Amino acid sequence: MSEGDILEHVGQLLNRWQFSERAKNLQSSIIREILKDSSKPGVINFAGGLPAPELFPIEGIQKACLRVLEKYGPDSLQYSLTTGVPMLKQFIAQRISTIGFDFSPDAIQITQGSQQGLDIIGRVFIQPGSVVLTEEPTYLGALQAFSFYDAHFVSVKTDDSGMLPDDLEYKIREHKPVFIYLVPNFQNPSGITMSKSRREAVVALAKKYDVPIVDDNPYGELRYSGNPVPSLKVMGGEHVIQLGTFSKIISPGLRVGWIAADVEFIGICEKMKQACDLHSTTFTQYVVYEFAKDGALEEHIERIKYAYGRRRDVMINALRKYLDNGSTWTEPEGGLFLWVRLPNGISASKMLPVALKAGLAYVPGKYFFSQRPDDSTLRINFCNATEENIVEGIKRLAKVVKEAD
Ligand SMILES: Cc1ncc(COP(=O)(O)O)c(C=O)c1O
Repeated sequence: MSEGDILEHVGQLLNRWQFSERAKNLQSSIIREILKDSSKPGVINFAGGLPAPELFPIEGIQKACLRVLEKYGPDSLQYSLTTGVPMLKQFIAQRISTIGFDFSPDAIQITQGSQQGLDIIGRVFIQPGSVVLTEEPTYLGALQAFSFYDAHFVSVKTDDSGMLPDDLEYKIREHKPVFIYLVPNFQNPSGITMSKSRREAVVALAKKYDVPIVDDNPYGELRYSGNPVPSLKVMGGEHVIQLGTFSKIISPGLRVGWIAADVEFIGICEKMKQACDLHSTTFTQYVVYEFAKDGALEEHIERIKYAYGRRRDVMINALRKYLDNGSTWTEPEGGLFLWVRLPNGISASKMLPVALKAGLAYVPGKYFFSQRPDDSTLRINFCNATEENIVEGIKRLAKVVKEAD
C-alpha cells in the first residue's frame, strides 16, 4: 500500500467512527518523517536523535540477559511493582546521588524511557489550556507529549547560557505556569548547557513563585570537555523533578528511564503509571541492573564519551573549514547535537529537500520552537555517523547552503 493509500484509509476511518479530538489532531513527528527519507541508500543522516549503534554493548547485554534468567528466573518474566524493580531503583538512587543530593529508592519511579516520564508529567499537571514554560528552542518530543494534554506553551527568551531570568519572571507572573520545562545539560536541540548563575536565578524564581521545574536530563553524563555545572536538583530540592534515562548511555531500545523527585510526588506518578501500563518491562529492568551494577556501565560510558567527543571535534573542524558563508553554530561540551544558524534569511526547511537530494538529512530548527519558530536554524547529530561521513556530510551541507545563499 502506498503512503497516499494509507492516508486515504485513515481519512475514511476517521469519518466512520467517533474518534476523540486528540486522535484526530495527532500528527506524526516531523523527525520520524525525515528519518524515512534519511534511510535511503547514500544519505548521511544527521537528523535523528540516535546514538551510535556500533557502540551498543551487545556482548555485555547478551551476558546480562543470560545472568538474569539464571539468577532471577521466573521473577524476571513476571508482573512487577509499578514503581519499578527494587534493585534497579536502589542502583539508580545511589548512582544519581553522586550529584550531591541524597535520593532514596522510594524517590524513583521507573519509566519506559524518559518519553514516558514526560507523558506522566503531562498527566499529572496539564489540564486543557494549562501553561507550560519552555526554553526557546526546546525538545520536540516534550512539545508532542504535553500537546497531547492540550498544554498552552509559552517560550521564555533563551541565550547561550539558558533562560533569561527577567523574561522568566515576567512570564511566571503573567501566565501562572503549571511547570517550567528545561533540558539544562547539552540541550536537545541546541547543545547548550545552562550556566551556574542562570540555574541559581531560575531556581530562585521557581521557589519564589512555588512553580515546579521539570529537569529533563538524558545527556548530563555525556560531557566531553569543560567542567560540570551543579545540578538543578541540588539547588532546587523539592521544586525540581528530574527525568533520567539509560537510552543515551546504554541503548534506547531497552526503554528504561526514571523520574526522580520527592517521595510524595512519586506516589502521584505511580498512580498515573499504573493506569497507563501497570509497570515497565520487568525483564529489561533486570537486564539493565545486571549489565550496569559492577562497573560495566561506567566503563561503557567512558568508551562512548571518547568516540562521541572525537566525532564532535571532527564535525566542528569540518564546519570551520567548509561552512564559510557567515553561518554560526554552537560548540557543545557534550550531548549529541549541534545547532546551526544560517545567514541571509536562508530557510532551513525549504533547503531540506535539496539537502536530501544531495544525500544529507538534518532537522529544520523551526520544529523545536513552541512559539516564534526560527526557520534559519537546523539541528545536526554529531554522534551517529562515522568520522569520514561526518566530514562528507558537512561538505554536502556547505554546498547546499552556498547554493541557497
Ligand atoms: C531531551 C529529551 N528528553 C527525552 C528524550 C526521550 O528519551 P527516551 O529514549 O529515554 O524516551 C529525548 C530523546 O531524544 C530527549 O532528547
